[in-house]
Amino acid sequence: MSEQDWVPTGIDVSRPHPARVYDYHIGGKTNYPVDRELAEKFIAVAPQTTVTALDNRAFLARAVRYAAEQGIDQFLDIGTGIPAPGNTHEIAQEVVPSARVAYVDNDPIVLAHARALMPATDKGRTGFTLGDVREPDKVLAAPEVRELIDFDRPVCVLLLGILHYVADDRDPAGIVARLLDAVPSGSLLILSHTTSDFLPPISADSVLAVNDEAEFMLPRPHAQILPFLAGVELLEPGLVQAPLWHPDEDADLSPERLAQSWIYCAVGRKP
Ligand SMILES: C[S@@+](CC[C@H](N)C(=O)[O-])C[C@H]1O[C@@H](n2cnc3c(N)ncnc32)[C@H](O)[C@@H]1O
Repeated sequence: MSEQDWVPTGIDVSRPHPARVYDYHIGGKTNYPVDRELAEKFIAVAPQTTVTALDNRAFLARAVRYAAEQGIDQFLDIGTGIPAPGNTHEIAQEVVPSARVAYVDNDPIVLAHARALMPATDKGRTGFTLGDVREPDKVLAAPEVRELIDFDRPVCVLLLGILHYVADDRDPAGIVARLLDAVPSGSLLILSHTTSDFLPPISADSVLAVNDEAEFMLPRPHAQILPFLAGVELLEPGLVQAPLWHPDEDADLSPERLAQSWIYCAVGRKP
């Protein structure tokens, strides 16, 4: 094992973990052989997986900047991921230096690296708590969350690349509804979710087979993701592929490029 493969106490490196596989795709160093092996299996059958992860990360930056520009200064980021350039607090605090971010993830590897999410600056505060989105009441009650977020003022709730780990029998729509219940009118929801809508017919079976083998994520079609946004008014342009959500001026939006982006994104406002 290389130095890069140092394993913090309590971290299971016998099975791939979503946060670490994603970290590998976006060019991070916090991943282990088992994670890289799975990521490479995905890449072998579908190189689009890496493009999709990078598109998601770029959407995160555009959407958080948008929220901060609307004056939102508190963010509840559930499914934080391993710290990487362009963390939510970095983007938000560029616009609103006093912005606060409560990070929540259920993977102890994220906890092990959470110090990188808590910069020692005089900017706004951040905090991290281990929590599971499938238990929204516990997330909302967590002291670290309560300390940072004032639920009487608009909050931006982030669910980026996380609901595809929540099976239908855990009621993902109900989870989103519960989280939105806790925040006032004017709050924003930023959501992204992988999809199999763009899998070419030949690779579809092989991609889904690798996925099943790892009991990994559950890509959903557009029609099954849209109901997760039932509690918000969708902002333009709606639930669209990541590159299409308020693209940068020089973005490549050709059909060939869009066929590579297997993730839907949206921002909505609680009425
Ligand atoms: C694909 S990464 C996304 C990271 C980041 N939100 C982004 O968009 O760049 C998904 C994250 O969700 C976390 N996650 C998966 N299931 C979760 C659950 N049930 N509760 C909390 N976090 C979860 C994983 O540990 C991982 O860090």
